[in-house]
Amino acid sequence: MKLSPKMKKALNDQIALEASASNSYLAMASWCEVTGYQGSANYFYAQSDEERTHMLKIVHFVNSLGSAPTIPAIKAPTSSYKSLENLIKTALKSEQAVTAAIHKMVEISQKEKDHSTYAFLEWFVNEQVQEETKFETILQKFDLLGRDKLGINEIDKYLASEAAAPEADPAA
Ligand code: FEO
Repeated sequence: MKLSPKMKKALNDQIALEASASNSYLAMASWCEVTGYQGSANYFYAQSDEERTHMLKIVHFVNSLGSAPTIPAIKAPTSSYKSLENLIKTALKSEQAVTAAIHKMVEISQKEKDHSTYAFLEWFVNEQVQEETKFETILQKFDLLGRDKLGINEIDKYLASEAAAPEADPAA
């Protein structure tokens, strides 16, 4: 089967979005590291790697259909944040944008009766539910544990334990 030009463009744009998420999480990790939030830094370094694997999944899928993707240039991400909470809010917003883009691709695949791409995207639909929940849970912690030094330290420890925990595969 062959990708329609519209589907191919959407997948290509998604490659750029995942690459940009990877870069942006790398910048967040680096900010956390220099600010002294080591647990959060570990979390975002891992998150950055994860986004790269998402990008690669799409590259391999497009290649498997004999339709070479264009590897995009990536804009430099923001590298300074007002606070850890502000950083997590930015991460959640970025995941919400990714979810919207994935849902748009699902709609295109449905409209075009492109069953292969539709099936391929199912993993991403489930993954996005997990991704948004992860960041929402972290944001809740600021209300639960507080925003003073002790609270932030607890949140940083929570992120360290999350970074050490194996990620559940949404397909499993
Ligand atoms: Fe690949 Fe977090 O979206």
